[in-house]
Amino acid sequence: MTSDPIETRKSTEGMVDYNRNSTAQQQHAIMQADHIRRLVGKLGRVEPELRLVDYGCGPGMSAIETVRPAIAAYRARHPDAPIVVCHADQAGNDWNALFGLVAGPGGYLAGNAPLRVEAAVGSFYERLAAENSVSLGTCFFASHWLSHAVRLDAPGTVLFDHLQGAARAQLTEVAQRDWCTFLRHRAAELRQGGYLLASMMGSVPDAAEPNGAASAGRGIYRAIQAVASAMVEDGMLDPDVLNGFVFPFWFMTEAEARDWIGADKVLSDLVEVEGIEVTPALTNPTDLFHDAIGDPVEYARLYTGCVKAFADSTLRTQLFEPAARSPQDPDALADEFYRRFDAFYREHTDRYACEIWHLTVLLRRR
Ligand SMILES: C[S@@+](CC[C@H](N)C(=O)[O-])C[C@H]1O[C@@H](n2cnc3c(N)ncnc32)[C@H](O)[C@@H]1O
Repeated sequence: MTSDPIETRKSTEGMVDYNRNSTAQQQHAIMQADHIRRLVGKLGRVEPELRLVDYGCGPGMSAIETVRPAIAAYRARHPDAPIVVCHADQAGNDWNALFGLVAGPGGYLAGNAPLRVEAAVGSFYERLAAENSVSLGTCFFASHWLSHAVRLDAPGTVLFDHLQGAARAQLTEVAQRDWCTFLRHRAAELRQGGYLLASMMGSVPDAAEPNGAASAGRGIYRAIQAVASAMVEDGMLDPDVLNGFVFPFWFMTEAEARDWIGADKVLSDLVEVEGIEVTPALTNPTDLFHDAIGDPVEYARLYTGCVKAFADSTLRTQLFEPAARSPQDPDALADEFYRRFDAFYREHTDRYACEIWHLTVLLRRR
């Protein structure tokens, strides 16, 4: 077991059946619509074109709902002014699914000319647009993914929130560096007066938690830990692989997001912080699937689908593949994990409910 962070592979790859299992993200994008319209109103007419970039856009309807209000608000004010929409994500994103939606009946292409659509393929920890080109950048549910997977000496937790000692210090350092790297690139890409609106999973102060903060989604990660530990006990997973595994996430508190920007002089000189807050989700903040609580089978199906949608590639590449004894094993381990996870939620239901706190950050380029 190593206690040094080892860069393995990128932190996330394809999302499984994302569109069907991302109701919360779609609702969140729709709830940000007024905010986005107001920001576009403040930009005025932009020459030679208004450039919108959605970082970590994903493959689903939420990417459409994120840019739709910006296009509508700009069109209403400047009917003939050109707009460029750039969807930015990693190479493994399901680009065909996304552009099918963009051009489909629920998309935004029809009736909005002059409008060009582009993709930027790469990591948002690198430059994804030309300097001084972006009028409005958005990034929803994405920038809590760290730049790379990290193995730590982390027995008993698959989430950063319960890490202790050196492991906690190591991941904190990665998280702080990633946050500032992400923002420095966005700051360089923004035009003067342009905005970045980033909303991600957050944490809130909670004295009862080991590190003084309760992390969004903590119930799901405790459930993943319990199911994976039972598979270790049954001889299906290597204990060393589980002990070294932690999701490549950091869900910042408001203070972390603010203080880490403040500690970066280059960044602070480039951007003005117009808002940083952590708020509970507007719908079902204490249980993402509360509406299904009366039906444990459906409730478990929803939680299992949600974990598959955001965590499948991470679990496969960082837990099941390293633990497998034969090439066939990772699939069998994944099937067994999801079967057990589903049974776990049927039995325990809302004891492992997923609470949601959103951290929303608005920056303006000076
Ligand atoms: C949960 S999805 C969110 C998609 C969409 N923004 C939404 O709100 O539904 C997270 C997205 O972030 C992308 N992502 C994660 N790390 C990234 C990185 N380093 N660079 C670019 N995209 C990244 C993933 O590929 C994925 O599409």
